[in-house]
Amino acid sequence: MKQKQVENCKKWFDKYVCDFYGDDEFVNANIRLKDNHSKRVCEEMDYLTNQLQLSENQKRIAQVIAMLHDIGRFKQFIKYRTYNDPKSVNHCLLGLEVLRNTKILDGIDGQERQIIEKAIELHGKKELPAGLDGEMLLYAKLIRDADKIDIYYVVIDYYKKYQQNPNDFKLEIELPDTPEYSKNVVENILQEKRIDYRNLQTWNDMKLCQLSWVYDINFTDTLKRIRRRNYIEQIVEFLPDTVEIRKVKQKILTYLDRKIEKAV
Ligand SMILES: [Fe+2]
Repeated sequence: MKQKQVENCKKWFDKYVCDFYGDDEFVNANIRLKDNHSKRVCEEMDYLTNQLQLSENQKRIAQVIAMLHDIGRFKQFIKYRTYNDPKSVNHCLLGLEVLRNTKILDGIDGQERQIIEKAIELHGKKELPAGLDGEMLLYAKLIRDADKIDIYYVVIDYYKKYQQNPNDFKLEIELPDTPEYSKNVVENILQEKRIDYRNLQTWNDMKLCQLSWVYDINFTDTLKRIRRRNYIEQIVEFLPDTVEIRKVKQKILTYLDRKIEKAV
């Protein structure tokens, strides 16, 4: 893939997204969220691919995936006014549909194009399917990590703004903002288990679930970034100060330190 193709793809993204902004401030705030997220994921991808010393061509493919991974989000929000996939549509598959209809990947080599499409398709799955081959697996892992680093940034920013001004909150909240959290969610984290989204009852459960994402991270460089930016500590600040939550914090931080230390 040529650098020019990456640049064209980024230019196309801006043009495409531009049309989704309009008079509705609720819609605009949500569109902006994914617009900015996609651009920051490109930066995170740049960090990861540099750390992993990938080839220039691999970096270019990874950049296209990062830029386009959430391309289905815009149509999804306009049509359903939610980013909740189960309540609307699978945004990864919708993204593929957008890419095919707009023919934006048409100039890209067949095999590279397949990799880009597959990585986008799989980026939102709870787990990656077994049997992915080397190169395909690499990009599928990369986008999942780059995406998660930025989602940490997004949710922390979200919690801060909500705390400052809950009444003026233009983004959607899907779970009740009550003081409780579920014991089974805490238990799962302490056992290093992933959490099923269907078990989430409150907004606090969602925050706990976000902490558990560290168990699903593929590259140590991603863990390093999460640790260095204090994302775990920051999310915990928005949870009730209880013995259980302190245990969860300790558990996750110890897990991160252990993984990072092992890789040195
Ligand atoms: Fe996504």
